[in-house]
Amino acid sequence: MRDILPPESARWRYFVDCFAAAAGGAGYGQVIPPLLEDIGVFTRLGEATDVVTKEMYDFTDKGGRHIALRPEQTASVCRAFVEHRPTLPFKAWYAGSNFRYEKPQRGRYRQFDQVGVEALGSNDPHLDVEVISIAWDFFADLGLQKVTLVVNSLGDPDDRDRYTRAVADYFNANSDDLSEESRATLSRNPLRLLDSKRPAEAEIVAGAPSIVEFWSPEALSHFDSVRAGLESLGIPFVVDERLVRGLDYYRRTTFEFRGGTLDSAQNALGGGGRYDGLIEDLGGPATPGVGFALGVDRTLLACDDEGVFVAPDVGAQLFIIDTTGGEHALLLSTVLRRAGYRVDRAFDSRSMKAQMKAADRSGAALALIIGDEEAASDQITLRPMYAGGDQTVIPTSDLLATVSNLINTVETPNPGEQ
Ligand code: HAM
Repeated sequence: MRDILPPESARWRYFVDCFAAAAGGAGYGQVIPPLLEDIGVFTRLGEATDVVTKEMYDFTDKGGRHIALRPEQTASVCRAFVEHRPTLPFKAWYAGSNFRYEKPQRGRYRQFDQVGVEALGSNDPHLDVEVISIAWDFFADLGLQKVTLVVNSLGDPDDRDRYTRAVADYFNANSDDLSEESRATLSRNPLRLLDSKRPAEAEIVAGAPSIVEFWSPEALSHFDSVRAGLESLGIPFVVDERLVRGLDYYRRTTFEFRGGTLDSAQNALGGGGRYDGLIEDLGGPATPGVGFALGVDRTLLACDDEGVFVAPDVGAQLFIIDTTGGEHALLLSTVLRRAGYRVDRAFDSRSMKAQMKAADRSGAALALIIGDEEAASDQITLRPMYAGGDQTVIPTSDLLATVSNLINTVETPNPGEQ
């Protein structure tokens, strides 16, 4: 678990703002689920899922309830839907922390943030395409150019069950070639073996049966429509018949976004799919659903690797230097903040030199200086902090108009304010 400090924290907030604009623009409203849920909400994600069986932070609270910190938010949004029954289609976006007891490494943390959407109430393959296109366009908004979209269909529940049995039979017949860990996975969740990253198992995984032969005509037709929709939007994708993903609730469409530069074990920037059946498992009426979540940490790492989406400048625009005791700084900083500027100042009656240093560090475009002379004549010295700017002395009464002119000429607006 990490602390996110400035300036990175400003980038996180701006990231969420951009996502909110992308999802909001497609008719999705924000849902803010609690961080904790009854453990039953998550065990329905699948008893064979590592996220549930091995990685959950669960405990008994003071009232004796068995609860867990959410490892993801799809289940929470579905639980909220069952509880509140909003009208369909219910289109929700969310942003926030999740908790998984994983082995921490670059791009993998025990507390990590996701942004995501869930769309409940329609089987229409166009909804799958809409959801994917929101993520795709969001990556483009960030400036990422090396993202690959990988899609697959896990078929309908019967198809998936028959396929799981075929995969289990295949790996059982070849279990001598599997590591001990993979044999354990085979007994718990055979489909996960298709995700094996062990080089020694690459060949045996490559020979496993393909889901393609197990798709029902309806599942195939749904997948065809999803692919056609993506093509009509010009969204490039590759089909990977071995894409199963880590959660058990997926039916039909599954997809993943992979970054171009992160290590392969951490290169999934996000993913999602259909989970028709999950709402029923949570005690609601039969309601189809589709959605995705993107890892904020990983997507920002991908931005670093591609050199895009830098932190917006949210530091001070103006820095007040008051060598007369601080009264002027107190008043001026308040007046200027109320006028909408980001203003900082020094405290503790520090020397002119120390205050200038602080102004420099603050990144402000303009220093406002009040020394004894300025105070006596009701004036302020404006010193531009950028090369080539001329220092001027103005009457205090001209301050707001002058600052407004100067700031407009030196500042390009923050991306978040465009
Ligand atoms: P997921 O694949 O488990 O899916 O997580 C989505 C993304 O969250 C991953 O691709 C990754 O970027 C990020 N992530 C997961 N675990 C960690 C971690 N320990 N540290 C950093 N980032 C991580 C879900 O969570 C589903 N709820 C997605 C979904 C929504 N499916 C349908 N709707």
